[in-house]
Amino acid sequence: MNIINNPMNKKINYIKIQKKLEKNGFIVLENFLSKSYCKKYLNKILSMKKDLYSRSSDKFKKKKDNLEYIVWNLQNKDKMFLDLIFNKKINKICENYFSQGAYKNDRDIYQFELLHARILKQNAPSQRLHLDSRVCAIYPPTHLQFFFYLDNLNSDDGPLQLVPKSHKILRYPSIRDNKKAKKILAKEGSVIVMNSNVWHGSAEKKSKKYRVNITLAFNRWFLKQQFAVPYGLPLKFQKKLNIKQKKILGYFNYPPRTEATRKSMRGSLTNYLVK
Ligand SMILES: [Fe+2]
Repeated sequence: MNIINNPMNKKINYIKIQKKLEKNGFIVLENFLSKSYCKKYLNKILSMKKDLYSRSSDKFKKKKDNLEYIVWNLQNKDKMFLDLIFNKKINKICENYFSQGAYKNDRDIYQFELLHARILKQNAPSQRLHLDSRVCAIYPPTHLQFFFYLDNLNSDDGPLQLVPKSHKILRYPSIRDNKKAKKILAKEGSVIVMNSNVWHGSAEKKSKKYRVNITLAFNRWFLKQQFAVPYGLPLKFQKKLNIKQKKILGYFNYPPRTEATRKSMRGSLTNYLVK
């Protein structure tokens, strides 16, 4: 079984998680979020105006928007999403995962990459199987994703589907691989932790209710974030960050403009103005 029941107040078995991630490329942790948090997140995301976040310019995209949309950069929109990035259990899983291939004494070896919600409306087609690490079968792994289910997801609700162990296959998925994909059916509050090398995508959605999933991702410190997080976080949130949180958000991972500013790749942000 690749599912661990993980009541929030119980100890989490990090060794087992790490082993499953290495072997199968993913693990499902049930009861990771409380029901009340799932409701809070769900209501907040659905209250955000779709038109503000979807950037449809052509007919095809508009048609697609009727089936699905994404709310990007949740960390900039409400502090409860920002806090999710600093969750202790999530960061412990990251520490273990990214320590593979890193220098033993190296610190701050990973950073926050992205946080968004993908909303599927009724009758959304399945998403093409893909991988998010950009390089297939890369090892030691470079990216780690957390998919949060805010509602119970059954077979017709557009759950995540993935091909177990595909993080070790040295090619990209094709349509013929769809038959190998397994749907991850899980309850609200579950999180699927997944090596971004794993072939995945959302399954076809046939039910009427909206499906809202949160994706949170981390990568190695020297890789790029999807958006320049330190430059986009509102000042009211920045003011309250401690050094550890800033490190996780990538504040010290931006290169200098020239050697006159700084010689190392890592360090404080230079010419950094917050408005
Ligand atoms: Fe993906």
